[in-house]
Amino acid sequence: MRKKIVAGNWKMNKTADEGLALVSEVVNMVNAEVTGDVTVVLCPPALYLTTYKPYLTGNKLALGAQNCHEKASGAYTGEISAPMLKSIGVDYVILGHSERRQYFGETNAQLAEKVNSALENGLTPIFCCGESLEMRENGDYLGFVKAQITESLFHLTDEQITKVVIAYEPIWAIGTGLTATSAQAQDMHFELRQHLAGQYGDAVAQEISILYGGSANAQNAAELFAQPDVDGGLIGGASLKSRDFVTVVKARA
Ligand code: G3P
Repeated sequence: MRKKIVAGNWKMNKTADEGLALVSEVVNMVNAEVTGDVTVVLCPPALYLTTYKPYLTGNKLALGAQNCHEKASGAYTGEISAPMLKSIGVDYVILGHSERRQYFGETNAQLAEKVNSALENGLTPIFCCGESLEMRENGDYLGFVKAQITESLFHLTDEQITKVVIAYEPIWAIGTGLTATSAQAQDMHFELRQHLAGQYGDAVAQEISILYGGSANAQNAAELFAQPDVDGGLIGGASLKSRDFVTVVKARA
């Protein structure tokens, strides 16, 4: 049975005091209000990961990073490795977010190495994929997103791929308030699951959680999560407000 997951990608937001207030509120709300079978992953800036780990009480909450380097150690100023994240109790790591592909030039080949390092160190990758508005409008978006999956993930074994969480995030929906319709999300998730089935077989493809990201919020989450191939969400802006984020979590639970 594939996991239901709602992950909050805080991106580069919250000062130390603001972040502590948010993580405390979210943990208290989740533990008091969420009864269903859902995993809630909090992905704050890396600076806060060690501090927040002890706050994540209960069996629904997990800690995630927003990135990791593909190497285990070395002369990579400013970078953080998968072994370092694992050593402080991080469970998940977002890889290949469109903002990192855009601003830091991350490639599918480099992301394949990042996925390998995460898996080798016992982290669950949340592998992001998604197309630009131009691609969506000119129609070749499906081929582009399939290639992201193929080039970064299809070297993995059956056992390894089932440990990967995929997040489909249409770039044109990220931070824009322009959410994909539930039909657009379902269509794409179905196509990606079919793509995975073509490589790994249907039984393995059915085990892989595919999350939706892109202006998902308290108002639209229930409809998005009602789609058969939408297994949860990767939430940006709405994760920065405790009530909004927990409303999204409850919509998935
Ligand atoms: O990683 C999730 C993020 O890209 C989505 O952002 O603000 O559109 O929910 P947002």
